[in-house]
Amino acid sequence: MAETEKVNANPEPAKPAAKVTVDATKVDATKYVGTPAVGTSKAAAAAGVSATASSTEIDRRRRRFAWAMVTGFLMAWFLAFFRFFLPRTLFEPNTIFKIGFPSDYALGIDEKWLQQYRIWVDRTPDRLFVIYARCTHLGCTPDWKPAENKFKCPCHGSGYDSEGVNFEGPAPRPMDRARIELAPDGQIVVNTAILYQWPKGQPSHFNDPGAYLTGV
Ligand code: FES
Repeated sequence: MAETEKVNANPEPAKPAAKVTVDATKVDATKYVGTPAVGTSKAAAAAGVSATASSTEIDRRRRRFAWAMVTGFLMAWFLAFFRFFLPRTLFEPNTIFKIGFPSDYALGIDEKWLQQYRIWVDRTPDRLFVIYARCTHLGCTPDWKPAENKFKCPCHGSGYDSEGVNFEGPAPRPMDRARIELAPDGQIVVNTAILYQWPKGQPSHFNDPGAYLTGV
């Protein structure tokens, strides 16, 4: 017991613990193996590296998206600017055209120009004229019925005789006639921009100069 007390009488003063300084810049987080324990300094370091890489990727995507938006806007603006200088043209069928010589047409109704110009050429014993193929009720194109010698509108049943004069159904007046004249080369020139009408209850313009050809 006395021996033990002698040993402990002059104890060595305790040396202060060596101060360990860690240079954070020299710590290589990639050397960590496995998942660091939560709450440790290693875990914090690993999380910091991971968060930095993730935010860099997000920034890159944001920049890419912003550039795509700017490029798209500039492209749209450029196209609108370019379109401004292009002419806005409405393509409409020609209203003045030649339909051949008077000798090409026999007595009666000729339908060869119906699809292209929406007209019938009508030759009677003393005249040749052009009927504009538009019903005067609501504008449908009537059908020529040779067996019945009349035009019949498929929309509401208006009927017109072989000269385009209405006689049944809701049509208020005869079908219009287009201007017609002979060109210097002897061909018939038709102008569907100038129409001759016979309004209901008013004088007819079917006998006006230009509404027909005679002696041809
Ligand atoms: S459009 Fe021809 S009868 Fe109505």
